[in-house]
Amino acid sequence: MKKKVLVTGGTGYIGSHTVVELQEAGYEAVVVDDLSNSREEILGRIAQITGKRPLFEKFNLCRQEKTLGLFDRYPDIVAVIHFAALKSVGESVARPLDYYYNNLVSLIHLLEGMKKHRVPAMVFSSSCTVYGQPDQLPVTEEAQVKRPASPYGNTKKISEEILQDFLVNHHAMGVISLRYFNPIGAHPSGLIGELPQGIPDNLVPFITQTAIGLRKELKVFGRDYNTPDGTAIRDYLHVTDLARAHVVAIERLLAGQQKHPFEVFNLGTGQGVSVLEAIRSFERVSGVKLNYRFVDRRPGDVEKVWADTRLANTELGWEARSTLDDAMLTAWNWEKKYRENPFSDE
Ligand code: NAD
Ligand code: WQD
Repeated sequence: MKKKVLVTGGTGYIGSHTVVELQEAGYEAVVVDDLSNSREEILGRIAQITGKRPLFEKFNLCRQEKTLGLFDRYPDIVAVIHFAALKSVGESVARPLDYYYNNLVSLIHLLEGMKKHRVPAMVFSSSCTVYGQPDQLPVTEEAQVKRPASPYGNTKKISEEILQDFLVNHHAMGVISLRYFNPIGAHPSGLIGELPQGIPDNLVPFITQTAIGLRKELKVFGRDYNTPDGTAIRDYLHVTDLARAHVVAIERLLAGQQKHPFEVFNLGTGQGVSVLEAIRSFERVSGVKLNYRFVDRRPGDVEKVWADTRLANTELGWEARSTLDDAMLTAWNWEKKYRENPFSDE
């Protein structure tokens, strides 16, 4: 019997890539998603890649009876990977209560279900946003967690606090919180990838949508940062590397290898890349000249952040394998392939 892992948000960007990696590693995925930011068609695409359509339940985890009922119906779930969350920074400033409600209530209901059914392991999607602008770079897991600049970011900080408080009296359970830096790219098949609704917030989908002609130009936010070329620096990580880290984390939890009930790992490449370097990488691999211009800084953006990944390297035995160029090429292939063959009602 394959071990069942509940993947909340499993039709989303990172979740769908993780379901692929989980299934390829021999696990059975049970996906819960309310499809508020993803599409049911993703399940068919996962089946095309892995030969198996994951089990799927469509509901909002804020519905307590639905979430608790799920654990009744799948009593053999051995672990949970909790991706489901609202994630737009700008939207969270406009609608803070929706963000606090969705991201925190869903987590609380999941923990109630896990407690009742004694599910021993959770991997939680956290973010480098909890570091704000770190005092030292690369940033380690020991760095001070600051009050994030957005309500979205604050839901990640508070979620980590909820998890730590919960674990104080639930000794049979372990949680690994993975602080992602900037996930980019798509599955090499070109069948799944990042699909923002409306105008993309994030750099790479904006680049690929501009290159394909959906957007007129990319606005580069700020050229007066204290960085070598004046543009902001991030740590861009290929989503398939990120997805693989979740399988490794699940295996650590199920093997009882945790050194502490609440462990935190940075997931990045360890390399800082400027916006201009990211654009040049895209142009190199795509052969497309990108139309961009410089505008003012975007409010709330930090100047530079990249990960110290030594803890994930040594403790998880995980490291990013893909280069920035690999990730850009898969993002571009996904954009082109998707526009040729979009989901049915687009
Ligand atoms: P995504 O929006 O593509 O996926 C999240 C999925 O969760 C969506 O399919 C959405 O429909 C679903 N969902 C949201 N609220 C739900 C609820 N209450 N009940 C059921 N389903 C719900 O986002 P993603 O980029 O795949 O991000 C996954 C996780 O990683 C999120 O927790 C996000 O905050 C975190 N994260 C993302 C990034 C990033 O840059 N993409 C960086 C750091 C952390
Ligand atoms: C990257 C760089 C922009 C768009 C956000 C969240 C963070 C995390 C990841 C979830 C920045 C610049 C962008 C554009 C640009 N998500 N940029 N023009 O801001 O590092 O992080 O997503 O946890 O919490 O804040 O990612 O991709 O939006 O921006 O110049 O049109 O690209 O200013 O320097 P960011 P991003």
